Amino acid sequence: MAADMNKCSPAPPPADIAAHDRSAVASAIKPNKKKQQHEEEGDEEWLRYLEPSKLEVFDELEPWAEANVLPLLKPVEAAWQPSDMLPDPAMLGADGFHAACSELRARAAGIPDAHLVCLVGNMVTEEALVSHAYPPSKLEVFDQLEPWAEANVLPLLKPVDAAWQPSDMLPDPAMLGSDGFHAACSELRARAAGIPDAHLVCLVGNMVTEEALPTYQSIPNRFEGVRDLTGDSATAWARWIRGWSAEENRHGDVLNRYLFLSGRVDMRRVEGTVHRLIQSGMVMNAARSPYHGFIYVAFQERATSISHGNTARLAREHGDAVLARVCGAIASDEKRHEAAYTRVVGKLFEVDPDGAVRALAYMMRRRITMPASLMDDGCHTPGGDLFADYAAVAQQAGVYRASDYRGIVEHLIKQWRVEELGDGLTGEGRRAQEYVCALPHKIRRLEERAHHRSAQRPTKSVPFSWIFCRPVNL
Ligand SMILES: [Fe+2]
Ligand SMILES: [Fe+2]
Repeated sequence: MAADMNKCSPAPPPADIAAHDRSAVASAIKPNKKKQQHEEEGDEEWLRYLEPSKLEVFDELEPWAEANVLPLLKPVEAAWQPSDMLPDPAMLGADGFHAACSELRARAAGIPDAHLVCLVGNMVTEEALVSHAYPPSKLEVFDQLEPWAEANVLPLLKPVDAAWQPSDMLPDPAMLGSDGFHAACSELRARAAGIPDAHLVCLVGNMVTEEALPTYQSIPNRFEGVRDLTGDSATAWARWIRGWSAEENRHGDVLNRYLFLSGRVDMRRVEGTVHRLIQSGMVMNAARSPYHGFIYVAFQERATSISHGNTARLAREHGDAVLARVCGAIASDEKRHEAAYTRVVGKLFEVDPDGAVRALAYMMRRRITMPASLMDDGCHTPGGDLFADYAAVAQQAGVYRASDYRGIVEHLIKQWRVEELGDGLTGEGRRAQEYVCALPHKIRRLEERAHHRSAQRPTKSVPFSWIFCRPVNL
């Protein structure tokens, strides 16, 4: 009984990554024996369904799917959102929210533990829903690099017990009790009241970006040679993809919970924006190539680390130490992810410099688009572009600036020693190297011109539905 009680004690607070024994980290993410066996014994009957004649069936069925399957999705405006169902501090005000929470807890007190266990199980299953798929074809270089990834990439994941969780950061009614929770919520709202609207828009934009995780998990699962072919594959690449997604999942959760408790955000509008963004997907060039894909994610992880790091700094300046801690914790996760992807691409530069530098030039020529560039709240200023306006607010608030884009390009060129590449480059590879190395200078000139143009433009004021249509200057 005592042992059972122990199992249910609150999770320990997160420890510092530097304090971890690296081998403990590696063993915590060892492949599951059962899974490996399942893969080795795999019946390959299903492979014949990947033959072109079988796949053609789906091409032929596409117009039918357009007419018969797509209409079964609900339009976002008609779909329910979490905030339609549960008390919302922004709508009810502090006292109304506390009263509604007390009523909710009084009703929840009648739910038997067995039912509660079922609810938690269902929630965990819902949270894990992601897209998988696609035919098996392996790129040899990634097969050969698998033991290297096991030793050098997987240890950059944190073991679950040492990782922070949203409930470490924000008030938890189960731990604090009713009065303690209400007091902690009031303190949170008092601190959040000091956050300027422009900063709030940046936080919501960052949260919307993080919440579209189902799209991002499907991205590396599209990369040939590394994707998770079964959904529980034991390869180092597949375990990395799942471990990385699991760490990312906390980012949207914690920002969502903070913004909800702050009572300053129109949650229904924000939820609808997330709903639409996941429906729309994302734009990414060369989406199936692991060379191009890993370059994209290395860039993106650094970009998100900069953006969350800056929101942490601003939160501290505005007197919200809890929000600063939330954003800082996310930024440090992103930094570890950046280290992992930068390391993978660095290895590609070592084993195949020509392929790597050409992929880098290809991505840079098309610019790295932001993963949430298709965001839409369904009602933004006519003719306006919500993402462009959010990006303009982020630029002005110093959360993510055009100069950060150039900074990332410069940093990656240095990390991957692109200027030093010599032997092993084809003519095409040399041209790619020259193009990439000249890029920071070119971007700086474009930046100066854009800066000059924007200095001459009159300031405009744009309302954001996320903050109840209050205007923010751009
Ligand atoms: Fe993230
Ligand atoms: Fe990340």
